Amino acid sequence: MKGIILAGGSGTRLHPVTSVISKQLLPVYDKPMVYYPMSLLMHAGLREVLIISTPRDLPSYRELFGDGNRLGMRFDYCEQPRPEGLAQAFILGRDFLAGGPACLVLGDNILHGPSLPTMLTSCATLSDGARIFGYRVRDPERYGVVEFDADGKALSIEEKPEHPKSPFAVPGLYFYGPDVCDLAARLEPSPRGEFEITDLNRCYLEQGRLTVSVLERGYAWLDAGTHRSLIEASNFIQAIEDRQGLKVGCVEEIAWNQGWITTEGFRSEVEAAGNSTYGTYLAEALESGGNPSAAG
Ligand code: G1P
Repeated sequence: MKGIILAGGSGTRLHPVTSVISKQLLPVYDKPMVYYPMSLLMHAGLREVLIISTPRDLPSYRELFGDGNRLGMRFDYCEQPRPEGLAQAFILGRDFLAGGPACLVLGDNILHGPSLPTMLTSCATLSDGARIFGYRVRDPERYGVVEFDADGKALSIEEKPEHPKSPFAVPGLYFYGPDVCDLAARLEPSPRGEFEITDLNRCYLEQGRLTVSVLERGYAWLDAGTHRSLIEASNFIQAIEDRQGLKVGCVEEIAWNQGWITTEGFRSEVEAAGNSTYGTYLAEALESGGNPSAAG
């Protein structure tokens, strides 16, 4: 399975902060927002990742991540000329996926929970159908919403419904089997002119090939797309990182824990990170031989 990070959009809800910088490069406490979704793909064990962004912002992502070699990964890059919906990732990413299964993660979604690495690793074995998640929120009308029957089976899925049929929003993390590009190619644009990820998921639901797993209480799913949610996400990350002395979404540490880079490779990352608190954290991890139990 390969990963795709969609980091496009014009970030209008964050203007003027995003007038000259991509939303997904803004800091969430101590690192760029995009590190968090990248770390989810890494926990899933996915080493080949396509990063999709706007023509304006793609060069910044290239500069940040390079070819992926320093993390023992391989990164490809692709422009999304106009924001025409999340499912467009599978039209733009067709060559990259080369007929294989995929995990799509949105560049502004932050997910944290102790059993995530185990769960994500198991999701990455998916070879047919689709697997998405449901997460209880107070304001489901802002998201894709999934409705369940009494046995927990998904009944319907709707994009930003005025009258949500359930409190379960669908986070921006999706696993698909090898036919995802074919299904995405058959989608029609929605009334707002976008290829909706919810329409793609509905195709799988109608074919009886969609699994929806509920992320129980205790998981944190944050979206950082408004001024308020951005600072709340920063405060959340600061609180757990400071309390435990372990970082969330620390891609260098995860690459080292995964055995994708050698200790020498990790040492180069420590040197490159310099004397910020982030760099100090990496240096301490190196000195102590790592934090292998850290979910990261
Ligand atoms: C998108 C999807 C929506 C999903 C959400 C998760 O919404 O369309 O189904 O629940 O991401 O963050 P957007 O953030 O583009 O409004």
